[in-house]
Parts: sequence; structure tokens; C-alpha cells
Amino acid sequence: AKDPVRVLVTGAAGQIGYAIVPMIARGAMLGPDQPVILHMLDIEPAAESLNGVKMELIDAAFPLLRGVVATTDVQEACTGVNIAVMVGGFPRKEGMERKDVMSKNVSIYKAQASALEKNAAADVKVLVVANPANTNALILKEFALSIPQKNITCLTRLDHNRTLGQISEKLNVHVGDVKNVVIWGNHSSTQYPDVNHATVTTSSGEKPVRELVANGQWLNKEFITTVQQRGAAIIKARKLSSALSAASAACDHIRDWVLGTPKGSWVSMGVYSDGSYGIQPGLVYSFPVTCEKGQWSIVQGLKIDKFSRGKLDATAQELIEEKSLAYSCLN
Ligand code: NAI
Repeated sequence: AKDPVRVLVTGAAGQIGYAIVPMIARGAMLGPDQPVILHMLDIEPAAESLNGVKMELIDAAFPLLRGVVATTDVQEACTGVNIAVMVGGFPRKEGMERKDVMSKNVSIYKAQASALEKNAAADVKVLVVANPANTNALILKEFALSIPQKNITCLTRLDHNRTLGQISEKLNVHVGDVKNVVIWGNHSSTQYPDVNHATVTTSSGEKPVRELVANGQWLNKEFITTVQQRGAAIIKARKLSSALSAASAACDHIRDWVLGTPKGSWVSMGVYSDGSYGIQPGLVYSFPVTCEKGQWSIVQGLKIDKFSRGKLDATAQELIEEKSLAYSCLN
């Protein structure tokens, strides 16, 4: 029998937290034969509600769930964790300036970086979900120097999955038959969903999405804004932000990272740039990646046309500005 893996979820009393903990306990993140111990962190005002979530986890009698730690102590929460899913953060409230939100999150991610560095397993894999996700991951990396850069990532898999969903709806094909879309850049409205390399498996082999979607205009305009604005559309419809799809995407992200991507396909992850595709090193940027043996690597050699180049650079520019805003909050 396998030893249990310890999975931390911060902000566990929130919406995404409530959706993701049962998924993890059912094996959607690490597989159906991997026991888990859940570590759930939230802040003092949510302590009672967090305890309620723990009660429900016990009541669900998940066979894979070997223990639950529910705490408001960040050091205790981080102790011995192998996977850390960082969902907790300070949301933007009406009337708040971007800088105020950034400043709150920079101090949260700075403190949690140190707690992880001190208490987590040496090879902990970190996924930042809380917004601004790329920049929170960057701050976490800067303040957790002993955690390898390669172990700190942010979530753009939801955007990736949304892209697969849009193409599948448009072409009326199974979503599982669409692959190799890319989300480039920031998890924000400047992200670039790119289908230039994407294919659909059909009865007569793999066909490029560009060939199947006759309307190139749709792909260059409406499709891109639909994906970029999907988060806002969900808020408008639900009066709450996406939670089940975000939780599911976070499970997909970790599962593929740990267990590997299927042969011939890639996924999108926010990772520390090494300069690939002309993106300046030192940004956490979403790239196409393949994963093997618990390591991701950026897919190389994709052809970037002029239209795409502009989009890749625009979202990089936004990340450069976010980074400098974050640094100005540190001082
Ligand atoms: P929520 O507000 O329902 O939950 C957030 C939880 O974090 C709350 O329970 C809160 O008490 C807790 N929290 C606040 N400060 C904390 C701290 N210092 N330590 C631990 N916990 C803390 O929000 P929801 O809907 O669950 O979303 C969480 C985050 O995920 C938000 O920042 C949201 O913008 C982001 N998000 C990111 C997505 C992505 O694709 N990257 C998709 C959807 C949401």
C-alpha cells in the first residue's frame, strides 16, 4: 500500500476549497489508489466554517482520506505537505484600488512562502490559484528560496480547459478529442488562448482546428474574447466566481504534473520563464508544457505568427507591470 500524500489547501473554507476537497479525497487529483491526508488552512473569521468542512469530510467516509488537519495556524498547515494548493487570498472588493489588493496579497504570499519553506516537504509542489495568480506565485518563489523554481506554478489550466470547451461546442465534437490548445501569459483578460497548433481527433485522423473551424474571423476575435471574459460571464450568471471548474482544473494541473501528460499532448501551466518564446526570464508566465516523472518542460519550437507575437508580448507586458507593482508593495 502507498504511503499517504499530504495535500495542503489554503482558503479551504471558501468556494473553491469546498469544491476541491472532496475531489482530492476521491482521488481526482492523485489517482484512485493514492491515499491522502488533507491539510486545510483558513483565517480566524472562517475557523468555524472550516471545522464544518472537516465534519463533512468525515461524514463522507472517503476510503482514500487518511486524515484531516483543519487549522488557522499557517505553520501547522504547512507541516510535511507534499502538494500545496494556494487558494486563499484577499479578494478585490468594490472601491478598492489594484494596488491595495496587490499589497494585501503580497504580504499573504510572502508569509506563506516562509511557512512552506520552513515546514513543507523539501520537494513540495506548489500551485497558486488565488489571484493575481501569476504574481502571487512570483512572490512566493522570491520568498521561498530553498524551494526549487520548478516547483512553483500557477493555475491557467482553467483557461486551457475553457478553450477546449469552446472548441468542442463550436465543432460539436467530444471535448476529449480536442487537444494542444495553449494559454499564453497572465491569468487575466490579457491571456492569449491560441489554437494554431490544436487538433481534433476525427474518424479520418487528427485534423487541425484551424481547418475544421471554417470561420477564421471567429477564431481571431469572438472566440478569444469569450475565453478571456469567461470568468466575468460566470460571475454575472452565478453571482459568484467559478468554483467547480476552478477546482477541477486545479486537480487536472496537479494530476498531470505528478503523473505525466498523455503522449502527444500538452497542457498549459503558469511557470517561471526561462526565456522561451522570447518571454523575459523572471516572470511567471503560462506556457504549453509536457510533464514526465513529476517534472514539467516547456514545449519548444511552436511557430508563432505575427498576430500571436503581439498577443504574447502584450500579456508579458502586463505581467511586467504587475511585478513592479508587487515590488513597490514590498517596500
Ligand atoms: P472565496 O472568497 O470563496 O475563498 C477564499 C478563502 O480564502 C476564504 O475562505 C478566506 O477566508 C480565505 N483566506 C483569506 N486570506 C487567507 C489567508 N491569508 N490564508 C488562508 N486563507 C485565507 O474565494 P474563491 O471563490 O474560493 O476563490 C479563491 C481565489 O481563487 C480568488 O483569489 C479567486 O480570484 C481565485 N480564482 C482563480 C482562478 C484561476 O483560474 N487561477 C479561477 C477562479 C478563482
